[in-house]
Amino acid sequence: MSGNPLAVVEPWDLVADGYAEFGSAIMSPFSARALELAGLSAGSQVVDIAAGPGTLSLPAAEQVAQVHAIDFSEPMLQRLAEDARAAGLTNIETSVGDGQALPFDDDRFDAGFSMFGLMFFPDRTKGFAELFRVLRPGATAVVSSWAPVAESSLMRMMFGAFAAADPSIQEPQPNFLNLENPAVFAAEMRTAGFAGVTIQRHTTALTFADSDEMWDTMVRSSAPLLLMRRAVGEPVWAERAALMRAYLAANYRPNQPLSTTAFLGIGHKPVP
Ligand SMILES: C[S@@+](CC[C@H](N)C(=O)[O-])C[C@H]1O[C@@H](n2cnc3c(N)ncnc32)[C@H](O)[C@@H]1O
Repeated sequence: MSGNPLAVVEPWDLVADGYAEFGSAIMSPFSARALELAGLSAGSQVVDIAAGPGTLSLPAAEQVAQVHAIDFSEPMLQRLAEDARAAGLTNIETSVGDGQALPFDDDRFDAGFSMFGLMFFPDRTKGFAELFRVLRPGATAVVSSWAPVAESSLMRMMFGAFAAADPSIQEPQPNFLNLENPAVFAAEMRTAGFAGVTIQRHTTALTFADSDEMWDTMVRSSAPLLLMRRAVGEPVWAERAALMRAYLAANYRPNQPLSTTAFLGIGHKPVP
């Protein structure tokens, strides 16, 4: 088991509404890029593993025959279903379940995705193996994971704010043993059976009207910030939030572009 506090469902349940409303500006460009890379057609059957509120499923459903979205957080999938209804999309099926044990037959889908989801699984080997199993031969998979914090000015700004509130919090060093390392990422996909594996770097820039908008976006959509708040309790959180806001006010220039970088792992299931 991993000790990652984001490997369990509770923080995702609690952050689902804020993530759906405020997180999509940060996450959507990566799903858009993944959809381009997958080369879908109007008849495609797609699986979106750890789909969240539908960051990829909703735009995918406009391009393909059917999307199956699975996530272990029911509130996330409720948001997805509401937004699908509002958009008049009738070709998305949702399942509450674990991405490490998919409730689907073998060789079923024409494309499979896990955007910033499989990266949290305690057993990534199982996650990749399950993704591989449910794809038909010839199908494409795209999986995304964040690049090291040092490569994303948005994340560096946030860690600067965390450190201003609690000097014991340091910007994390790159972890060469997980998907932050493109060599590990590619090796894990190949071990699952994927062929033609490439790892592409994708960067997007975000701007906020001012530091308050940046703070509101992060605090309402970020599961790690929610965990920090719960860990320290409300009185300490109020002090820390004031320090973090002050840091952002001093360091974020209105409309300053900040970057986020992710790795997208692409591979296909070989035709025997
Ligand atoms: C950062 S969000 C990503 C959501 C969406 N794919 C996106 O790109 O915006 C991570 C999602 O992974 C889900 N998740 C994490 N571990 C999971 C697991 N073992 N099985 C299914 N879903 C999981 C969470 O509930 C959450 O919705």
